[in-house]
Amino acid sequence: MIDDKVYLGKDVRIFHPDLVNLYGCSIGNNSSIGTFVEIQKNTSVGERCKISSHSFICEAVTIEDEVFIGHGVMFTNDRFPRATGIDGKILNEKDWHMESTLVKKQASIGSNATICPGLVIGVCALVAAGAVVTKDVPDYAIVAGVPARIIGDVREALDKQGPFMKEAQN
Ligand SMILES: CC(C)(COP(=O)(O)OP(=O)(O)OC[C@H]1O[C@@H](n2cnc3c(N)ncnc32)[C@H](O)[C@@H]1OP(=O)(O)O)[C@@H](O)C(=O)NCCC(=O)NCCS
Repeated sequence: MIDDKVYLGKDVRIFHPDLVNLYGCSIGNNSSIGTFVEIQKNTSVGERCKISSHSFICEAVTIEDEVFIGHGVMFTNDRFPRATGIDGKILNEKDWHMESTLVKKQASIGSNATICPGLVIGVCALVAAGAVVTKDVPDYAIVAGVPARIIGDVREALDKQGPFMKEAQN
């Protein structure tokens, strides 16, 4: 389902439009959206991004250009989620304090990572598969584990990848 408030840039690829849920979000030029992805309102995805299948991008997430989101990545925006108040009354949108998240240019988030509310993932940073990110990630850092800790630097890791990655960085 793609609602009528969604903005799709030029040449956005959505592999199975009937198998995604996009609500009130904006997707930049040349980005791709995998199957079973859900993107909520007030969210933007930049240009030339790849959003892999089964990922959930909640309200108040901003993803800059050329970001890679792996499979089954979960964003969150509610630090202390509750279904009801102490009095048992069902809570709705106006009752919760939403925290926004920013994923900066060329960052990559590995499969099955969870991004806790209100964080900044730095330029070109890499979040390892399965990490639970609880703090801001500096530019170029590689973070892994639960909770995620810095384990390396993307520039050093890419330097070891040979001529293709070196060319791609120039
Ligand atoms: C983080 C990552 C880049 C590290 O790759 P690498 O540099 O080749 O790392 P290594 O395999 O040499 O491991 C280095 C250390 O980090 C640990 N490590 C590697 N990946 C990890 C992960 N996902 N979570 C926790 N620890 C991890 C290793 O156990 C090792 O620890 P040790 O030194 O105590 O033995 C890689 O494992 C990763 O998660 N990439 C993302 C994959 C992905 O999700 N792709 C998207 C869709 S295909």
